[in-house]
Amino acid sequence: MILITGASGQIGVDLADALVDRYGPGKVLVTDLRVPEKVRPNRLYDVLDVTYMESIEKIIQAHDIKTIFHLAGILSATGERHPELAWNVNVNGVRNILEAARRFGCRVFWPSSIAVFGPTTPKLNTPQETVTEPGTMYGATKVTGELLCKFHATHHDLDVRSVRFPGIISHSAPPGGGTTDWAVDMFFQAVRHGHYECFVTQETRLPMMYMPDAVKSVLDLMDADENGITIRTSYNLTAFSFSAGELAAAIRRRIPDFIVEYKPDFRQDIADSWPQSINDSRARRDWNWTPQYSLDDMVDDMLKHVAERVANEPPDTNPA
Ligand code: SER
Repeated sequence: MILITGASGQIGVDLADALVDRYGPGKVLVTDLRVPEKVRPNRLYDVLDVTYMESIEKIIQAHDIKTIFHLAGILSATGERHPELAWNVNVNGVRNILEAARRFGCRVFWPSSIAVFGPTTPKLNTPQETVTEPGTMYGATKVTGELLCKFHATHHDLDVRSVRFPGIISHSAPPGGGTTDWAVDMFFQAVRHGHYECFVTQETRLPMMYMPDAVKSVLDLMDADENGITIRTSYNLTAFSFSAGELAAAIRRRIPDFIVEYKPDFRQDIADSWPQSINDSRARRDWNWTPQYSLDDMVDDMLKHVAERVANEPPDTNPA
């Protein structure tokens, strides 16, 4: 049986669908802090707070869990506002999951982030092994989590695998509290209102990936032969990089009247501390990582799905 934590989050919703498609609804237990408003039919669902070790152990035992996709976490912008919460959920959460996985013999996937890098890291084509001195609490929790993963893999032979995700663009579930959220918000506001107020400058460039590739990366990494996995902190990973202005231009080529105003807020400093492009050659070498979506493929597919979603929104709601 497979356990997903944080299953109502941006990655969790799509990853749960992919795992249910592959293994069947009876083999995937989706959990989150709260029961979501809409649980998809035939889903096995439970409530789980990953900061409580006993709850994790109970669930693993009760459902005979063998693989854990540990996605529960606080993202970067929320983490800057609530550093203690970020530390508690992100560090104690991954520590508990790793410890429980070791005791019960589970495999683990856990997402790290480009946020492990900081102002002293080379910004272009950022290598796998380089300076990881993040300026954010979120980044500090991810560096700590990576080191915990490596510790458990080395000292306890735990099969834990991880990637440093770039910003992820998706339409099924919204991201929440991230610095790269503008790349998702821009699509929804373009379709809803033809107008978007962007919280980073138009020059702000970050590495990104479309959700189908993010899901594919998780499945590919977990499918890979254990002997080929040479990195037990977390693999660099990317699909493409673009600036806010370039994304706006790509959307404007499809929605010509689309207007973007740039009003940077506190998230600008976080974005400026992260790499602009990532070298993911180790992932390509070790487990044949290759993204499927180019920037233009992603923009076409996003606009199609976002238009469908917005068309189905109740008429009296007018989300900002
Ligand atoms: N997308 C995340 C964030 O912006 C980075 O991991 O917080």
